[in-house]
Amino acid sequence: MKPEKQATADGTKKYAERFPNAADGHFRAVQGLTLSSIGIGTYLGNWDAATDANYVEAITKFVRQGGNVIDTAANYRFQRSERNIGKALQNLSEKGFGREEIFISTKGGYLPFDNEPPSDVRGYFQKEFVDKGIATFDDLVGGSHCMTPAYLQSQIDQSLGNMALETIDLFYIHNPESQLGGTDKYTFEARLAKAFEKLEENRISGKIKFYGAATWNGFRVAPDNAGYHSLERMVGIAKQIGGENHGFRFIQLPFNLAMPEAYLLRNQAVSGKVFAPFEAARELGVSVMCSASILQGKLAHSVPLHIREILGSPVTDAMTSIQFVRSTPNVTTALVGMSRAAHVEENMKLAEIAPVAEEQFAELFVQA
Ligand SMILES: NC(=O)c1ccc[n+]([C@@H]2O[C@H](COP(=O)([O-])OP(=O)(O)OC[C@H]3O[C@@H](n4cnc5c(N)ncnc54)[C@H](OP(=O)(O)O)[C@@H]3O)[C@@H](O)[C@H]2O)c1
Repeated sequence: MKPEKQATADGTKKYAERFPNAADGHFRAVQGLTLSSIGIGTYLGNWDAATDANYVEAITKFVRQGGNVIDTAANYRFQRSERNIGKALQNLSEKGFGREEIFISTKGGYLPFDNEPPSDVRGYFQKEFVDKGIATFDDLVGGSHCMTPAYLQSQIDQSLGNMALETIDLFYIHNPESQLGGTDKYTFEARLAKAFEKLEENRISGKIKFYGAATWNGFRVAPDNAGYHSLERMVGIAKQIGGENHGFRFIQLPFNLAMPEAYLLRNQAVSGKVFAPFEAARELGVSVMCSASILQGKLAHSVPLHIREILGSPVTDAMTSIQFVRSTPNVTTALVGMSRAAHVEENMKLAEIAPVAEEQFAELFVQA
């Protein structure tokens, strides 16, 4: 049999079956796949060989301990994080983990640079993108963001090469709201439509399976904010291009104990009814990945006792913060940045602890 090129229904199910002690609810069925409620993120850390080695070890350990969602972006540590994932996947394949068991997402939009920040950013852009006919200086927004079709294609091809993959399971446009500062919403939507056209093309050629938007503020602010994204509009554009079987099936946004807007703020209209972002995603058939689950490490130390108790008193504050995110209704996966194997060891103890039930979770929001 030919080896699979991407995460598959059977492969991810088989992956979950490797962990008979996993608690109910640790693995979730979404978009035809079985995905873990905790994913490993690869954003933070120095651009040096020691951090590279740490990430390779941490990612390898993570997959061996019950996590099959890996998140990255072209610009994370100047492409080093993607290359670390490539190395970890090679280790995992030697240990018998197949490509079809693991779900890999990456993002394109920001200038990636190469291994380290260049001393001359203009010169870098000229050489890597202008001279190669990929993009012009006019395509750049805010000096660092681009989402033209040709640019996104270059980023998809680069990410495939960095991770030695044939297919990326999920390709996000990275922080599309970065484009909103300098343009009106009609121009933005026209750019988004062109981008989605290119992404649908890549689905047909097999270079990506799904696509989505990874955002910071876009889905969490009020509709009158200049940086606001309507999820219904985005899905509408994807439908116009890809039809009912379009590939816009995931969003990523920050969510944690200190940033609860995506659960609480009713800022998204769907068919004339108003929902919070997580509910709007459910209504629109979109799955949710949460970033910054422990507020970039800050929630590893300071969770109040009554919150810990409602969340079942996990051993540490970091685990409690992750338990909050993975227990939130309509969240598929809490992404946690982990460059250290010791953090993987600690956080993945949650794989054997069930997320708290919805009624118990709701107690967090009862006014004292
Ligand atoms: N706009 C976007 O698209 C966007 C923005 C931000 C993040 N993301 C994605 O979401 C992922 C998660 O967010 P994040 O990495 O920014 O923040 P995070 O997950 O909230 O925090 C990561 C930090 O917490 C530390 N940590 C992990 N487990 C710990 C533990 N048990 N005890 C103490 N510290 C611990 C990590 O340290 P070590 O590294 O030393 O293990 C790292 O410094 C990212 O990696 C990225 O993949 C996307």
